[in-house]
Amino acid sequence: IKNSKILVTGGAGFIGSSLTNKLLVNNEVIVVDDLSMGNFSNLVESTNLTKIEGSVTDKTLLEEIFIKYNFDYIFHLAAVASVADSVARPFETHLVNFDSTMTILELLRNNNNKTLKRLVFSSSAAVYGDDPILPKSEMSSIKPLTPYAIDKFASERMVSIYNNLYGVPTSATRFFNVYGPKQNPKSPYSGFISILVDCFKKNKKITIFGNGEQSRDFVYIDDVVQALILLATSEQAQGEVYNVGTGKQVTLNELLGIFQDISGKNIEIVYAALREGDIIHSVSDIGKIVNIGFENKFDFKSGLAKYLKYEGLR
Ligand code: UD1
Repeated sequence: IKNSKILVTGGAGFIGSSLTNKLLVNNEVIVVDDLSMGNFSNLVESTNLTKIEGSVTDKTLLEEIFIKYNFDYIFHLAAVASVADSVARPFETHLVNFDSTMTILELLRNNNNKTLKRLVFSSSAAVYGDDPILPKSEMSSIKPLTPYAIDKFASERMVSIYNNLYGVPTSATRFFNVYGPKQNPKSPYSGFISILVDCFKKNKKITIFGNGEQSRDFVYIDDVVQALILLATSEQAQGEVYNVGTGKQVTLNELLGIFQDISGKNIEIVYAALREGDIIHSVSDIGKIVNIGFENKFDFKSGLAKYLKYEGLR
């Protein structure tokens, strides 16, 4: 993507800031973030960058932004990313995870936006729920177990329907478990690997919910940024949804072992009850996105090694 005007919602967060820093080299980027988990210090300094502190639940703010700018691309990454947080606060998370998508889609429909080449919505592997049939492909059954998964699925369908009915060009990704630099560990609802790194640094015990035999498909941030740009620019991807993962699954117990091997340190583990709505096994089939040119640059070990080097843990 070059010489374009781009909106990144959640652009100060983990995935958003990584994407924005890459886009800033050749483009003008407008970032909207409420700084609930993000931080503007995640972003490089650039005259191409406009930072707006505010929430995507603020319709007036979004309206003002859409009046002021005609975007070529929009990446809607602002969300409450935690599945468990949505179980604790279903209504508040719904406003962020679903209503904001509707607001953006309506603004695009009403403005009859002519410059927009693509809106990319970030959905989640959580939409598949706990179906025992693995790996999960885009054709697998959808069994959302939490408010988070429902909101992601509804948003994902809604962007597709705005594409089909109103000509708003959209695509959607289903992220598996993304990890890497700048993932904020501050909340008990943060991503597992970010919490693990934080515990390592502070010599704190890590809590495992369940027996640690649940598995995830952990995908490194650089590959996710690559996938987002691919989906925004691929003609074939318009109106479609794609898994973004590695196609490999790792249990939390295996992860702890690999972690201790790479870092050469031990960590104390406390076991607690499984979280409500938690999925046991999750792994992607990435055939669909590979078909349009995606290729993982990192497997779990090389991605984790790069991340731990960044964190000074190896
Ligand atoms: C994660 C993402 C979600 C994404 C989804 C896609 C986060 C916070 N969540 O959800 O945005 O849509 O992947 O698959 O990034 N766990 C512990 N101890 C902890 C924290 C977590 O044992 O301190 C366990 C959880 O119970 C779960 C696993 O680790 O079994 C992963 O949890 P988490 O990192 O919150 O991710 P998901 O719920 O898979």
